Amino acid sequence: MRPLPKVRDLKIDYPNAEAFLQFSRNTVKAMAGPFPAPLECVECVAAAVTKKIEDGLAFERERFFALAQTDESKALRHAFFAERAASKVPDVPADTPTREIARAAVIGAGTMGGGIAMNFANAGIPVTILETKQEALDKGLATIRKNYENTVKKGKLAPEKAEQRVGLITGTLAYEDIAGADIVVEAVFEDMEVKAQVFRKLDEVMKPGAILASNTSTLDLDKIAAFTKRPQDVIGLHFFSPANVMKLLEIVRGAQTGKDVLATALALSKKIRKTGVVSGVCDGFIGNRMVEQYLRQAFFLLEEGALPEQVDKAIEKFGFAMGPFRMSDLAGNDIGWYIRKRRYAESPELVYSPIPDRLCEAGRFGQKTGAGWYDYQAGDRKPHASPLVNDMITGYAQEAGIERRAISDAEIVQRLVFALANEGARILEEGIALRASDIDMVYLTGYGFPLHRGGPMLYADTVGLTNVLDTIRKFARGRHGEAWQPAPLLERLANEGKGFNG
Ligand SMILES: NC(=O)c1ccc[n+]([C@@H]2O[C@H](COP(=O)([O-])OP(=O)(O)OC[C@H]3O[C@@H](n4cnc5c(N)ncnc54)[C@H](O)[C@@H]3O)[C@@H](O)[C@H]2O)c1
Repeated sequence: MRPLPKVRDLKIDYPNAEAFLQFSRNTVKAMAGPFPAPLECVECVAAAVTKKIEDGLAFERERFFALAQTDESKALRHAFFAERAASKVPDVPADTPTREIARAAVIGAGTMGGGIAMNFANAGIPVTILETKQEALDKGLATIRKNYENTVKKGKLAPEKAEQRVGLITGTLAYEDIAGADIVVEAVFEDMEVKAQVFRKLDEVMKPGAILASNTSTLDLDKIAAFTKRPQDVIGLHFFSPANVMKLLEIVRGAQTGKDVLATALALSKKIRKTGVVSGVCDGFIGNRMVEQYLRQAFFLLEEGALPEQVDKAIEKFGFAMGPFRMSDLAGNDIGWYIRKRRYAESPELVYSPIPDRLCEAGRFGQKTGAGWYDYQAGDRKPHASPLVNDMITGYAQEAGIERRAISDAEIVQRLVFALANEGARILEEGIALRASDIDMVYLTGYGFPLHRGGPMLYADTVGLTNVLDTIRKFARGRHGEAWQPAPLLERLANEGKGFNG
């Protein structure tokens, strides 16, 4: 038997290898985005073709170790371990029994309810959606059907699979039809009175042991649980819009949520292919509580000298999928307005820029009204800078006696991202998040934070917490400095020379 030929002895017989390599470099560069590794892989292949094998191996080894030291590599490894860590809750061991989820129900067939129902159907779990009116139910079911049709049209789902999934979704107006479900997810209006009615009714009709979940974005889950006589079965399952697409699922653990209910929710998040992250109860939970500080800064930046497109461009260049103003126009500016009105009453000490309120008073709720921070043309989601909004911003500054200044892109990024990290530090200190990497997971999977930066907490670690703290102290001496109280945990870790992620 002849020995197998060694790779090192193989002759490369590829005419015009350099032209092929150049083509590869161009193609890979266009696809690699901010990541350096793919291009280096091409260089390693080039070395294999052009150098002696020993030199090629040495080149590859040297490139590997250099890449492993980059911030991008650290961010990717962080995200990999963060995702795995997120499913571990210290006082809920891996052998905690879980409840069987064979049938699901969703209350409300609106924006969120429809998407949530699709998640169950996609995982092969039959689901019934309950509405108050036939018209709303029909509209919700039609939207679901259309969503599946679009996925089929894009070639991403076989038509028979789509039919199968649509077939798993039924609608009803009667609570009796959902009484046997193993889990019910409420997605009705964000109003405590409406939630109260629904949870009292669920308590009355649902079979014993059913999990009663709420998709609330901001309301107190413990209050919701108290509408029932079974608070141990109540949990928050906070999906993100569009719920059938976004990876993040914030799992909100109430004061009395049972450990088996939490373990079931974590297992379910995997089954429906979401990244489940556990959050304690607070206003806005992890993600929205932090985004509020981020948005407050975005609005202050407008007063001080920036315009929406500059802010969006700066943070998008940093790597965010979408800047704060494009994001608000997509989500609806009225949602933030509603929350701010509640804040004005509940926390009058919190200072906000009046600019976003003026925008809403002008009826500019975003894409859905054809106008928001930007102008939109009918049937097109492309934002166009709005002279009217820009005049409104500069007009306000003039009226308030603010001397507008040139704001650098670097300052915009620091103001927005350090606002996230500082609030993240409070959330960590209060035990709302179990670990810094959970906060990073929320931002990577739910808020378009750039993966190559690893999330707001890892990014702060990369910059160095002493540098972050110094910058925050500098901002505290500027306009609206009161919004820049450093979180005690940030101060402590910076003084100890440590990072959020250990
Ligand atoms: N829209 C988002 O981006 C988003 C994201 C995360 C969480 N949420 C939360 O999800 C929930 C629903 O939000 P949405 O945007 O889907 O609202 P929506 O207005 O689009 O839908 C709410 C639906 O609930 C129905 N409904 C109202 N009262 C009902 C009742 N008593 N019984 C049955 N159905 C009832 C309405 O007819 C409507 O179809 C809210 O708690 C919201 O805070 C929304």
